Amino acid sequence: MKPNRAMTFLLTGTFFLVVYLWKDDYAVHVTNHLQVYARKDASQNRPPTTRSSYVYSWPSCQQNVSAASITGFTSLPGHIQNFLYHRHCRHFPMLLDVPDKCGGADKSVEVFLLLVIKSSPENYDRREVLRKTWANERLHNGVWIRRIFISGTAGAGFEKQRLNKLLELEYREHNDILQWDFHDSFYNLTLKQILFLEWMERNCPQARFLLNGDDDVFANTDNMVDYLQSQKNNNGSKHLFAGHLIQYVGPIRDLRSKYYIPVQVHKSDSYPPYCGGGGFLLSGYTALVIYKMSKSITILPIDDVYMGICLAKAGLAPVSHMGVKTAGLPLPSNKLDAHDPCYYRDVLLVHRFQPYQIYLMWHRIHDPNLKCGTS
Ligand SMILES: *[C@@H]1O[C@H](CO)[C@@H](O)[C@H](O)[C@H]1NC(C)=O
Ligand SMILES: *[C@@H]1O[C@H](CO)[C@@H](O)[C@H](O)[C@H]1NC(C)=O
Ligand SMILES: *[C@@H]1O[C@H](CO)[C@@H](O)[C@H](O)[C@H]1NC(C)=O
Repeated sequence: MKPNRAMTFLLTGTFFLVVYLWKDDYAVHVTNHLQVYARKDASQNRPPTTRSSYVYSWPSCQQNVSAASITGFTSLPGHIQNFLYHRHCRHFPMLLDVPDKCGGADKSVEVFLLLVIKSSPENYDRREVLRKTWANERLHNGVWIRRIFISGTAGAGFEKQRLNKLLELEYREHNDILQWDFHDSFYNLTLKQILFLEWMERNCPQARFLLNGDDDVFANTDNMVDYLQSQKNNNGSKHLFAGHLIQYVGPIRDLRSKYYIPVQVHKSDSYPPYCGGGGFLLSGYTALVIYKMSKSITILPIDDVYMGICLAKAGLAPVSHMGVKTAGLPLPSNKLDAHDPCYYRDVLLVHRFQPYQIYLMWHRIHDPNLKCGTS
């Protein structure tokens, strides 16, 4: 992006952040117990310089048999029962760690934007394309962008071993994966989020800002840096939580919905305001506040709502971006190309892109010959 374009972008203040609510890619897998094992050599990943150390092997979390005595338990769907049995589990062995991702806790102040991308083990193609496009680690406008994928385990038996091996290979080549030994499922996304925040407090506590998002979004990280740098009174040490704001909603009590939350999981009929989980920006300060709050808040399976609950408890509010669109980029006419790079040059984030579409769009918006009308 040329400097004058960046300026126009900031002055007009037309940021779009488009996030769809659906996360269909996470099927709700219900499996029985996975064998829990800690990689023998995991401790080798610990550099000698880290101040605090992580316990790499936790005893496997026991299911809470008393959960079965909750009223109406037997009539709940299997995945909800499974959730209730394991709701209290918050510690899992780390299989892959990158403790020096931010240069150590003290140096982490030099990380301006940490991209924290939720990715399931099998999403190899998505990770590959992100590494080459918007999640490429680089200096932009004089500040550092760093990338980390966060993952659990998938499958069982040989398939689980194969997928772990895949992540390990990628990890060796790119040093960008945190993996814990828990089942990576839709209902465990909150757990993944909490485990990441715990890692951040330990290894990257001073990162200025974070993008927390999915691996199937198109994120214009150049624009994100420009936007965050324009927050003149906030260098990351104050509250910021921005994205696609959702408010005045509550749990879906319809059993057929993927988002079904029975009263046994969340009694209240309302949720506090939150930002759609496809992608949101937050300051390092706010991330650590959320982590602190999470310690005394029982896990709710919907991760983005859970973040809103933590914020509310801290007395903080999420905000919406100007020009936020909830249902994709509205086109003036259906004769226009929905993937015209001119529409995406000024956005912050758009949900649901295929890997090839991300690759193509990233290159097209950076084409020096790209000509767009005045928007
Ligand atoms: C186990 O479940 C029961 C019933 O929901 C609950 O009261 C108790 O606090 C749970 N125990 C733990 C360790 O979470
Ligand atoms: C979350 O992961 C744990 C550990 O693998 C597993 O026991 C539990 O069943 C998972 N929960 C859900 C709802 O998938
Ligand atoms: C960030 O801003 C605060 C004041 O709001 C200041 O105390 C702090 O030193 C600044 N941090 C850095 C790393 O510039």
